[in-house]
Amino acid sequence: MTSRKEYNDLPAHVAIIMDGNGRWAHQHLLPRYMGHRAGVKAVRRVVESCKDRGIEVLTLFAFSSENWRRPGDEVGLLMDLFVRTLKKEVETLKRNGVQLRFIGDRSAFNKKLRELIDMAEVYTRENTELVLVIAANYGGHWDITQTMRKLAHRVKEGSLQPEEISQELISGEISLADLPSPDLFIRTGGEQRVSNFLLWQLAYTELYFTDTLWPDFNEQALDAAIQSFRKRQRRFGQTGEQVEQLKGA
Ligand code: IPE
Ligand code: IPE
Ligand code: MG
Repeated sequence: MTSRKEYNDLPAHVAIIMDGNGRWAHQHLLPRYMGHRAGVKAVRRVVESCKDRGIEVLTLFAFSSENWRRPGDEVGLLMDLFVRTLKKEVETLKRNGVQLRFIGDRSAFNKKLRELIDMAEVYTRENTELVLVIAANYGGHWDITQTMRKLAHRVKEGSLQPEEISQELISGEISLADLPSPDLFIRTGGEQRVSNFLLWQLAYTELYFTDTLWPDFNEQALDAAIQSFRKRQRRFGQTGEQVEQLKGA
């Protein structure tokens, strides 16, 4: 008998840590940079697959606030690749109904990249097929900090009382506030850690880890993750029986 749990809805929001580019390159006896290039191809495939499946939001971790600690050469090449990919893809994304957004601290990027990011957001903002969020110079600690700073300013101005600071208020100010919370988190590359990705937003996200290296990630790998998600029972603190009853109601 098929359990009804297999019929969980599709995740509305999928968030992915795209890890393993360096190891993929190593396996293929290539420089790390080639792994990142192959990673861009995987991004294209996965964006299309998510759109085809009716997923509403896809958030991709492209560069963490800690990735600046990598050798300067690699950081420079990653930035170049970021700029080139953005320039090259924005037209196709626009045509395909993809709305592009960025989260993370943009102030660390050079002016050219900041302008490109702003332009891409404005250019695609009417699109509704899929919201593609790129986390660039993003860190969960940074996100919580910038939210607290905004609220502290409001307290200082007198428009907010400390007692009014609530979970809802924080959720309303933090990155991705206007989007559904991530339902499914995927990390490729075999590591089982969150690496300072969406800390606040992942509170009740289903976690899925795969050994597949990011450049090898494809439609089938995405379906395997979705399938795993669909079999899970999300209880949000309740009992399994309560959840079954609610579903049956
Ligand atoms: C992820 O792949 C891409 C970025 C962090 C930019 P890695 O470059 O971390 O690949 P591994 O973990 O070294 O294999
Ligand atoms: C996480 O991968 C960041 C991105 C994929 C952009 P890392 O490769 O930087 O994570 P750690 O250092 O292994 O935790
Ligand atoms: Mg890595």
